[in-house]
Amino acid sequence: MHTRVLTGITTTGTPHLGNFVGAIRPAVLASKDPNVDAFYFMADYHALIKSDDANRVEASRLQIAASFLAAGLDPDVATFYRQSDIPEVPELMWLLTCVTSKGLLNRAHAYKAAVDRNIEQQEDADAGVTAGLYMYPVLMAADILAFNANKVPVGRDQIQHIEMARDIAQRFNHTYGREFFVMPEAHIEEQVATLPGLDGRKMSKSYDNTIPLFEGGTKGMREAIMKIVTDSRAPGEPKDSANSALFTIFKAFATPAETQAFEEALHGGIGWGEAKTVLFERVEADVAPMRARYEDLMARPDDMEDILLAGAAKARAIAGPLVETLREAVGLRNARHRRKVADEPAAAAAPAAAPKAKPPRFASFREDDGSFRFRLFGADGEELLLSRSFADPKAAGTLRQTLATLGGAQAALESQGDRIVLLVDGAVVAEGQSYPDEAARAALVLRLRTALDVLAAVTADEAAAKAANKAAG
Ligand code: TRP
Repeated sequence: MHTRVLTGITTTGTPHLGNFVGAIRPAVLASKDPNVDAFYFMADYHALIKSDDANRVEASRLQIAASFLAAGLDPDVATFYRQSDIPEVPELMWLLTCVTSKGLLNRAHAYKAAVDRNIEQQEDADAGVTAGLYMYPVLMAADILAFNANKVPVGRDQIQHIEMARDIAQRFNHTYGREFFVMPEAHIEEQVATLPGLDGRKMSKSYDNTIPLFEGGTKGMREAIMKIVTDSRAPGEPKDSANSALFTIFKAFATPAETQAFEEALHGGIGWGEAKTVLFERVEADVAPMRARYEDLMARPDDMEDILLAGAAKARAIAGPLVETLREAVGLRNARHRRKVADEPAAAAAPAAAPKAKPPRFASFREDDGSFRFRLFGADGEELLLSRSFADPKAAGTLRQTLATLGGAQAALESQGDRIVLLVDGAVVAEGQSYPDEAARAALVLRLRTALDVLAAVTADEAAAKAANKAAG
């Protein structure tokens, strides 16, 4: 079973060692798990809420993108993109905004903290609070729901935002009467170390105590490490490893054996200066090869742009059809489609009229080798899907039943080559027609989802009728 894991990184800063250990390294590792479908993005719309420094936002989104790639994220495996390259995200945000109660947003921690500060300082409650800050949780919900993510790795401070995303998703599902969205779960990485900064407090840009990851080069890394605060024990005196930032950082990079050796050296009285050199060399051994890749990427902004736009195209292939379904659901419908429906009685009256629309239907058949397959045809008789072949006719029947109740929004569709394929539990079970271009692809996906919706509705009606008969009889 594929788990879709999604997380965003706000692009207001330059990655530091704490970001690497706490976020980048675990994210890259998770993306290599074959059961994970990783979606990572630069939350650059969120950055605008926090910073109006355009150059800083520009630099940060490049630095963060290059850092993930340099740390080994494979953009062909993960879906890696900039939030602002996905127009479906702000579009979905509006659809969600219209079902989100204002009271929910009043309760958001970040907004409440700003209000509390204002009140304490006897200012107007909303002084300095932008509507962007207020809407932050809805934008974040759109990030997550646009891709129906299952798992969202975040820091503890973000748990409330995931809960709000669930609330909003539920409200939308309820209002429009269908399970458009799956409920995302927050995922807190318990094992991952929080690195101390230069002063021993949590490494954070807001404390100005960070060790830069790549920017500043080897020299910057060495200089920062030499500035880590220690106690005043002289060389020869045993050091307390448990309360040493040096040791904690070392441990985050080293093997257990290396860690033990370093601990023994500290207890044995190694001087702090020497200990810092040991730490620098250990960290640099990991960082140097990544830094070389980082510098190479930063020197090729055109290539980075290509990589990120390719990521955005992959992401939009998922978000596009979903948002299209949602537009339909809320009534933002295609007028041409509508006219066809209105014309239908007239068309039916005319002798040469197209056959009356039937619900989508399955047709089963046997291959020459004796295996079983079926096709799904749309209302107009167009072939939409061809199932894989099954040795066992029951297995084919089970899949038909699954598809009959699946519904359009729940269908996991992917592109493989120039075809759409349908996945159930992570395995390809049917393939669609080939398509010549993106527009044709989007149209095909929409027809397929619509057919699955109609099918699910028909199946539900039949089940209800059966139940009613049974009750009557
Ligand atoms: N708000 C998150 C943070 O500050 C960043 C973010 C934006 C995010 N959109 C997201 C995280 C969606 C997870 C999912 O850390």
